[in-house]
Amino acid sequence: MAAGKGTRLKSKHPKVLHEIGGKPILAHVIATAQKVVPAQDIFVIIGHEAERVREAVAGTSVNFVLQAAQRGTGHALMVAREALLGSGSGNGKKSKYDQVIVLSGDAPLITSETIRKLSAFHTAQKATMALLTADLDDPYGYGRVIRKGGRVDVQAIVEEKSATPQQKKIREINSGFYAFDAPALYEHIDRLSNENAHGEYYLTDMAGVFHRARKKVVAIKTPDAGEVLGSNTRTEMMVLDARLRLAKCRELLENGVTIFYPHTCVIDSDVEVAADTVIEPFVQLLGSTKIGADCRIRSYSVIGNSVLGDRVTVRPGTIMEDSQVSAGAVLGPYSHLRPGSEVGEGAHVGNFVETKKIKLGKGSKANHLSYLGDAEIGEGVNIGAGTITCNYDGVNKHKTVIEDGVFIGSDSTLVAPVKIGRGAYVAAASCITEDVPADALALGRARQSVKEGWARAKREAQKEKRR
Ligand code: UD1
Ligand code: CA
Repeated sequence: MAAGKGTRLKSKHPKVLHEIGGKPILAHVIATAQKVVPAQDIFVIIGHEAERVREAVAGTSVNFVLQAAQRGTGHALMVAREALLGSGSGNGKKSKYDQVIVLSGDAPLITSETIRKLSAFHTAQKATMALLTADLDDPYGYGRVIRKGGRVDVQAIVEEKSATPQQKKIREINSGFYAFDAPALYEHIDRLSNENAHGEYYLTDMAGVFHRARKKVVAIKTPDAGEVLGSNTRTEMMVLDARLRLAKCRELLENGVTIFYPHTCVIDSDVEVAADTVIEPFVQLLGSTKIGADCRIRSYSVIGNSVLGDRVTVRPGTIMEDSQVSAGAVLGPYSHLRPGSEVGEGAHVGNFVETKKIKLGKGSKANHLSYLGDAEIGEGVNIGAGTITCNYDGVNKHKTVIEDGVFIGSDSTLVAPVKIGRGAYVAAASCITEDVPADALALGRARQSVKEGWARAKREAQKEKRR
């Protein structure tokens, strides 16, 4: 169920597209569902901003059911009738599915183990409806579970707004995860009414409906209440995000990664890090970033959607996006690798060097204060401090090619398109506008002239004036 608006968030974005652990809430739930059943058996009920939600998770190849007007969780299941029953059930026709598992699109910490347990419990109990519950210290806002005298059987679920003061004291809450007997669900679902505080059809009322129809409703309690927490408010999302990221850090620690002060790091759910890599405080590893073994990622570095080989050193304050770094490279402090930067084995990108869409060959160095964009730089190249590739003429981008073994003197500007041949030298402070052949020296600057005694003469002239 992912059709709701998320009114309590006060957001222009649909609730299920808010991110925790660097990924939309709904994407977490779908990924977990896919561990239990194949995508073709997953139906996502969308409604509020349906097209945006569909687009955000379209890559998963799940099915979608449109709940054009969102009239409650019960109504969400009503509109899914055809998708789940197929051409029908009853009158000798068989339902498409025997069991339907319902997941809340806004509770992203649920695990596949727990979903499987719920499903197995439903089957083993031969129940019509099974719900997953948890004991919360603060059950406020959740539906409360009314059991039949401490048994597995459930009489009803009461929503916060309808609960009596006595019922509000119940700490066992409905998690919003259920397993239903599909034909029975649709045989009885039309008995739901919307005469309640929200004027909605509550799926939770199915417990009472089945109970009255003498069908079996049972509850299974998860010991890890954290798994079922919903994200109705920004505060709840903050709590879930922190939980998820800390769990991610634990997973990495268990796999041999050292993380100092994990509470200060922001590591997204899908990030991979190999053993013996050390992550210092205040590091952000985002999106699909993959980091090799024996790396050191120093403080204040922000690495997004990038791949780093083994033994890479990232010095403090390095920012990187959509880039690739080979083994043994050294970056930073304060390097900025923009999309499409490929740094070769053992290469160095140093202080205040900005790169974009470049290849920097094996062992090449650009250690200080440079802009390198749209460039192909060979192996063993030395890029002097302050070198600039002038890649943009105001309309188009052009390429700079620097072949193996080239030495670019400090403060050079390379006006693209331009090529510096293998082993050539570019003298410091040159403005290079024409190709340089291999092994040549290119000087692109005015010759120095010296005016003997000039400074002294100036000083004396000033003294004269003051007198
Ligand atoms: C629901 C349960 C409550 C339970 C809690 C657990 C009901 C009536 N209440 O409350 O007992 O303790 O979850 O987190 O079900 N949705 C739709 N279509 C709609 C309405 C909602 O698809 O018309 C989706 C929402 O996008 C959301 C999920 O269903 O992903 C749950 O809806 P929400 O409004 O968050 O229900 P809660 O108030 O949290
Ligand atoms: Ca909710």
